[in-house]
Amino acid sequence: MLSQLSISHLRNITELRFEPGADINLLLGVNGSGKTSILEAIHLLALGRSFRTRSLKNALQFGEKQFQITARTENQTPVGLQFDAAAGLQIRLNSAPLKRLSELASQLPLQYISANCHQFFELGPRFRRQLVDWGVFHVEPTFNFHWQSYKKILLQRNSALKKRKNIDEIQLWDEHLIKHGEKINSLRQRYLQHLMQDFSVIFKRLCMDYKLAEFSLRHKSGWSKDHDLRHALEKGFERDRSLGYTKAGSHAADWSFRINDADPAEMLSRGQQKLFYLALSMAQGSLSINSERDRTILLIDDLSSELDISHQETVLDELEKLPVQSFITSADSTLKDMIQREKDMVFHVKHGAMDGIES
Ligand SMILES: Nc1ncnc2c1ncn2[C@@H]1O[C@H](COP(=O)(O)OP(=O)(O)OP(=O)(O)O)[C@@H](O)[C@H]1O
Ligand SMILES: [Mg+2]
Repeated sequence: MLSQLSISHLRNITELRFEPGADINLLLGVNGSGKTSILEAIHLLALGRSFRTRSLKNALQFGEKQFQITARTENQTPVGLQFDAAAGLQIRLNSAPLKRLSELASQLPLQYISANCHQFFELGPRFRRQLVDWGVFHVEPTFNFHWQSYKKILLQRNSALKKRKNIDEIQLWDEHLIKHGEKINSLRQRYLQHLMQDFSVIFKRLCMDYKLAEFSLRHKSGWSKDHDLRHALEKGFERDRSLGYTKAGSHAADWSFRINDADPAEMLSRGQQKLFYLALSMAQGSLSINSERDRTILLIDDLSSELDISHQETVLDELEKLPVQSFITSADSTLKDMIQREKDMVFHVKHGAMDGIES
């Protein structure tokens, strides 16, 4: 979580400084006031990239050459990010330059929930894998090692396939690919089972229409379920050779949660789809809690879109129960009457600056 945040020259924000609370932080303001830009700044700081643009130049305030974002984490570690149109991106953690982005990601676990998150069901397996891998990364310390190793070996194997190397030179990689792939599969499987349990409890509370529903997990390892990865690689060898890449493996995994054994994408309304995604993120946020790490940050952009007022209130009630730090934007100022605890904060955003704070 963040205990202090300063932003300069990002989008319409010239200078902005505020001290978020540890729980709910509501960012309210009219269209174009700068709410999403504040979420973008937090996302940039935690992940080193924006959710709105690939080119950080677009996030520079018009006419400026540099933007800066600084913050302190839960344990007061300073984090700072600077983007310069000429020099590029620099990130400092605890006053030292950052070596790897994963260092930052493990310090500041963050989930971004876009205004269009109900479209989750239209996104492909890559997005679903990234979502589950985010969670596994934060709860299973060995996951990152296995996944990074797996990706490197896969690249080597694919390159050997593409160059039409002989069989021994291709199969040379299989032993390690199998070792890491099987491990990744079992870590994902275990995580998804826990996630489904927490998810179903939260989803039933957010979406009372499904309070008696049964949930089930469909997890595809990325190879035929009747065999192990070794068998899949052996059996698919000729196919891989003609394709020029490895088809089966952990990079082809996928998963879904079914409701009453039906596909939620075909059954849930738009608002319910948004509640589904919110419940998923909340369950991930609560699962990633670990005493050695910072609280997870949830960025919820435009809570009010797709949701009626009573469901927005239910989401806020549910967030109050979770030990996560949330930043929630909305153009609907009545939301401020729905938060109950004194420690929750309400910030009014106007023309890229803070126009008032309530707590
Ligand atoms: N590079 C930039 N420099 C200056 N201003 C920008 C830049 N990029 C976007 N803007 C403007 O910054 C303002 C803030 O945008 P932002 O998306 O944060 O608003 P918002 O409060 O989330 O609005 P909404 O409620 O419509 O989602 C907008 O007026 C936008 O046009
Ligand atoms: Mg916005």
